[in-house]
Amino acid sequence: MPHEVRAVVSREKNAPVSVESIIVPDPGPGEALVRVQACGVCHTDLHYREGGINDEYPFLLGHEAAGVVEAVGDGVTEVEEGDFVILNWRAVCGNCRACLRGRPWYCFATHNARQKMTLADGTELSPALGIGAFAEKTLVAAGQCTKVDPQASPAVAGLLGCGVMAGIGAAINTGGVTRGDSVAVLGCGGVGDAAIAGSHLAGASTIIAVDIDDRKLELARGFGATHTVNSREADPVEAVRELTGGNGADVVIEAVGRPETYRQAFYARDLAGTVVLVGVPTPEMRIDLPLLDVFGRGGALKSSWYGDCLPSRDFPMLIDLYLQGRLDLAKFVTETIALDDVEEAFSKMHHGEVLRSVVVF
Ligand code: APR
Ligand code: ZN
Ligand code: ZN
Repeated sequence: MPHEVRAVVSREKNAPVSVESIIVPDPGPGEALVRVQACGVCHTDLHYREGGINDEYPFLLGHEAAGVVEAVGDGVTEVEEGDFVILNWRAVCGNCRACLRGRPWYCFATHNARQKMTLADGTELSPALGIGAFAEKTLVAAGQCTKVDPQASPAVAGLLGCGVMAGIGAAINTGGVTRGDSVAVLGCGGVGDAAIAGSHLAGASTIIAVDIDDRKLELARGFGATHTVNSREADPVEAVRELTGGNGADVVIEAVGRPETYRQAFYARDLAGTVVLVGVPTPEMRIDLPLLDVFGRGGALKSSWYGDCLPSRDFPMLIDLYLQGRLDLAKFVTETIALDDVEEAFSKMHHGEVLRSVVVF
């Protein structure tokens, strides 16, 4: 029996989203039906609504979610009815060259549900990042569900499904931050603050937060920043050098996605330091660097995609650390909202007023 539920739909480019009835099929082979309990509002949802990802409207938005498995289809072994799960948008295939070489975070043959969710009139929906979780129920591939300790609140757990994992993973998985490291984080939104929290967790001794907004720098201290730099008032490259004995940081994490911060990230690193790019640039953006500076500085220039995470390894671990009081994930939730408030949350996000607004069902 298909399920009729309320969901946030983006019907056309740049138009406000609407809450509508959608039809969610029962799970087929390899699929899971999830009763969504919470879903965070992420920039990528807004990018879909603005036409920045593709033009396959109507979109079913939402992808930073946690909930309970309501039913599974044939052959599903990953999860069962009643499991508390975080959804991920990279259920890896296990068979491609990346997977077989032991680097499944580079897998590009990831799984989604095969069946389509639809509007009440039968129009097929495109779920954001293959999830679509601004909905009371959603249909995903079973591999998109990762079981975690149900003591974690859904609003907090769901955030690991995207932005917070991207930031923590940029520090720990991609940057390889380890104890005693100096780290500079450019941009202290949800992703940058998560990179700061990840660096703190990994034992970095100096964590320099850089932003253009003093309110963001104040929040960054709460996640473990030891120093803050307002890059409207001081040159961040000079400031990072000064705070690291003239050297530059061992790991620099760019969490804005703009040419000027990409450039700053490159020059704020120590010789042989690592630059991690997690902010997503637009297709038009360019930077121009002297090749001698690339050659002469050594180290590594890396991009981090979804924090190079393995959901089945990283989600349960981070939830355990949160429940033990060693990783304050709750601070990322600025506000909890209703399904009808997603459009308003986009506007708050756009104006930099929130780290995360989270829809709670
Ligand atoms: N220098 C430093 N900080 C800046 C600059 C700048 N030139 N411009 C903007 N910022 C700061 C903003 O003040 C804000 O605090 O960068 C932060 C960006 O945060 P958010 O807009 O909340 O974005 P977030 O969700 O953290 O994502 C950051 O990572 O995954 C990507 O697509 C995502 O590109 C985006 C980036
Ligand atoms: Zn693969
Ligand atoms: Zn996201």
